[in-house]
Amino acid sequence: MESAPPRADIPVLASLPLVIACSKFTLRPVTVADTEDLWPHVSNPELSVYMSWAPHASREVTSAFLQSQVDGLARGTIVNWAIVLDGKACGLVTLAGITWHFSTGWRVDRAELGYWIGQPYWGQGLMTEAALTATSFAFDTLGLHKVTVGHMDQNEPSKRIIEGLGFRYVGLQLEDAWKHDAWQHHHRYELTTGEWSDSARTMRFSKPRRP
Ligand SMILES: CC(C)(COP(=O)(O)OP(=O)(O)OC[C@H]1O[C@@H](n2cnc3c(N)ncnc32)[C@H](O)[C@@H]1OP(=O)(O)O)[C@@H](O)C(=O)NCCC(=O)NCCS
Repeated sequence: MESAPPRADIPVLASLPLVIACSKFTLRPVTVADTEDLWPHVSNPELSVYMSWAPHASREVTSAFLQSQVDGLARGTIVNWAIVLDGKACGLVTLAGITWHFSTGWRVDRAELGYWIGQPYWGQGLMTEAALTATSFAFDTLGLHKVTVGHMDQNEPSKRIIEGLGFRYVGLQLEDAWKHDAWQHHHRYELTTGEWSDSARTMRFSKPRRP
């Protein structure tokens, strides 16, 4: 399906309903108070093997990162949700780089999806639901036109999530980032709002129902 034209009004991100109840957890915007819950995960070297960041060296690094996410939400450029399970933040799912137009005037209405969850929680289907919920928010609540996402070579669980959501493969960015003493390849995908509308036919998951 061809996508609709850009939305007429650009919403104030922080005023949208950002607390979202999911089947096993709640998504809510991160705060600096999440530092203690997230610290065991962001300092775990195994978690960041396929991430663009290195393990956090101190809680100050984590707090500064979380403050930057709070500031980004106020500016309307990022929404970083804590995945709150049994009262604890155990991971993050993010729409980053929210951009409505380039300075040239072009409307682009897009964001980049990102996510991680603490190692004790891997393989329980949690991120499948969190990523689906964030993607649904991007299109159905925020009204973006396009969501982009990527994963490093060999990150099979992330690939499964992206493919399951119906993202279209764009291509392989060769030698895209230096990590683990080598240039790493990066697989890139995107999804337009028109494709999202059609995706009931192509995605492996059921879209969340919102009241
Ligand atoms: C990638 C990550 C977010 C997946 O989260 P998760 O909650 O464990 O994922 P889910 O349980 O929802 O499973 C997602 C898919 O990966 C598959 N999967 C899970 N663990 C796997 C493994 N070790 N090897 C292969 N596939 C795996 C699941 O079977 C599922 O696929 P399916 O829907 O076809 O059955 C999580 O492993 C993580 O945070 N890793 C470290 C950070 C990271 O790599 N983030 C993504 C950067 S692009």
